[in-house]
Amino acid sequence: MKSVYCLNPISNAGMSRFDDTYCIADSIENADAVLLRSASMHEMTLPDSLLAIGRAGAGVNNIPLDSCAKKGIVVFNTPGANANGVKELVIAGLMLASRDIAGGCHWVRENKDDPNIAKTAEKAKKAFAGNEIKGKKLGVIGLGAIGVLVANAASELGMEVFGCDPYLSIQNAVRLSHHITIVKDNDEIYNQCDYITIHVPALDSTKGMLNKRAFDQMKDGVKILNFARDILVNDADMADALASGKVSRYVTDFPNPAVVNMPGALVLPHLGASTEESEENCAVMAVNQIMDYLENGNIENS
Ligand code: MLT
Repeated sequence: MKSVYCLNPISNAGMSRFDDTYCIADSIENADAVLLRSASMHEMTLPDSLLAIGRAGAGVNNIPLDSCAKKGIVVFNTPGANANGVKELVIAGLMLASRDIAGGCHWVRENKDDPNIAKTAEKAKKAFAGNEIKGKKLGVIGLGAIGVLVANAASELGMEVFGCDPYLSIQNAVRLSHHITIVKDNDEIYNQCDYITIHVPALDSTKGMLNKRAFDQMKDGVKILNFARDILVNDADMADALASGKVSRYVTDFPNPAVVNMPGALVLPHLGASTEESEENCAVMAVNQIMDYLENGNIENS
């Protein structure tokens, strides 16, 4: 019997695929495989029994890849399986950065007992006026599964979209519709875009890439979205850029305490892939990968 340990729960749509030749273990000790979402494995001791890790999601920065490589543990992720869920939240993020939706909702809650709320709202609403995204320039940094979907959706909403990715695949280049401009480096995005959204993995080479040097090249009042990973942004430089108005809005999916109270920051608790559909897609893909590897030795990760 093969033993699988779930470090944090993944959707039943995936778990129910395990037949009675599998047991769900209470601990990692002696497990053949681990399934997890965003919980970190960095502090865990990897048992000699462990053959595979299935990450139900795209990012693998929560897994000690070097130790896994040394021990011959195969690490799977589920690229693309939650891309639509993340894309939809990024599009919502564009709206949040443009219209004071959060402020408006808060105002109504605060004034709910005012019998003349409709009249008062007429006066108050000026303070919540925003701008439209149609016709604005959006820079998409990273054109993988999520970046491509975001670029196409924003273009359909009337934005002028610029994209950059040093590793752009031919398949993804083809998926980009003809009205998206591919630029040669991020600087070309920094110096002309009104909105910038980042969709690159967390690597040593991408850590802190949105920093003072990058902000200095951007337009005054630029709006930045980060639904990728918090370490891509240099917090101290972002705080300065928000305080000076260089960056007017920072919408991020990472509840980093250093960012939460910054003026202009809108912070979500890592909800990008938190839809029923994305959770199911990721869980099914991760469980299929693990079963195919444990039973047939197949390594499929596309
Ligand atoms: C991802 O890397 O795909 C997301 O962080 C998924 C998640 O929320 O688990």
